[in-house]
Amino acid sequence: MRLLPELVLVCLESTLVSENNLLAIKSLSVSFGGLKALDDVAIEVKPNSVVALIGPNGAGKTTLFNAISGLVTPDSGQLHYDGNQIPWPKSHELVNYKIARTLQGVGLFSGLSVVENVMMGADTHRKSNFIKDLIGISSRDEYELRELAMQALAWASAAHLADFEPKQLTYPDSKKVSLARALVMKPRLLLLDEPAAGLGQDDIDKLAKLIFDLKRNCSILIVEHHIDFISKISDQVYVLNFGKVIASGTFEEVKREPAVLDAYLGTQQNSIDKNELRVL
Ligand SMILES: Nc1ncnc2c1ncn2[C@@H]1O[C@H](COP(=O)(O)OP(=O)(O)OP(=O)(O)O)[C@@H](O)[C@H]1O
Ligand SMILES: [Mg+2]
Repeated sequence: MRLLPELVLVCLESTLVSENNLLAIKSLSVSFGGLKALDDVAIEVKPNSVVALIGPNGAGKTTLFNAISGLVTPDSGQLHYDGNQIPWPKSHELVNYKIARTLQGVGLFSGLSVVENVMMGADTHRKSNFIKDLIGISSRDEYELRELAMQALAWASAAHLADFEPKQLTYPDSKKVSLARALVMKPRLLLLDEPAAGLGQDDIDKLAKLIFDLKRNCSILIVEHHIDFISKISDQVYVLNFGKVIASGTFEEVKREPAVLDAYLGTQQNSIDKNELRVL
């Protein structure tokens, strides 16, 4: 996938690179009944960086995304965004912060075409009026929104799918469309939950290139089990296990941490092949 200059231009208007973290989470705890899904978690995401959240199944990765995006209510914790402490956002407020996310599954609306699904990503919680009141650009009409959605589809290598129904898509193609739906709001912070799951190597390589391009203008917090992919794209890695951060640093640093090896393999080794970290 080649670097598209338009992508750089449209993201620039929504990105103010500050010296501070774009996102900082402190002391985040979330529980479901008696289960502590997140326990005193702290993470930081710098502007124009790719931060990976890895860890075994059930570690709390998606729960952390859900806390940021208003789908679960934290027991405690603080959220700093762009240098200011803010309340944990409700999901309909994410568009104001230019925070976009993809779901661990695909989550496309079956009654809409692909391009209409992507248009919805501009403001999913104002469906009745979303064209008129698109992410603060009130003068945009439906034609312009459609053009924007087509651009987002092109970034995700999915423009040729615009008129398809979601049910006609292959799984890898539906992942591309869900990514386009997140990109259409020109996010400053993009939360990607297992974007490479179910993709072949060719599509994973294209995704890595796209993330590299996006990083020029956005920060990306990514959950992924494909460890080789994470090793290539991430600037910083946090490893979660049973709701706690057990290691953080560069991929090269965390992959040697005994606690990380224990979490993945249940045993300590002196060195490890990156592919062996894949969760089975
Ligand atoms: N809505 C919920 N109600 C009850 N328990 C939940 C809920 N959501 C998550 N959990 C539990 O919280 C823990 C963390 O789940 P989470 O989905 O965040 O894990 P994960 O790291 O994303 O795992 P995976 O890699 O399998 O996607 C798990 O034990 C899970 O069963
Ligand atoms: Mg998950």
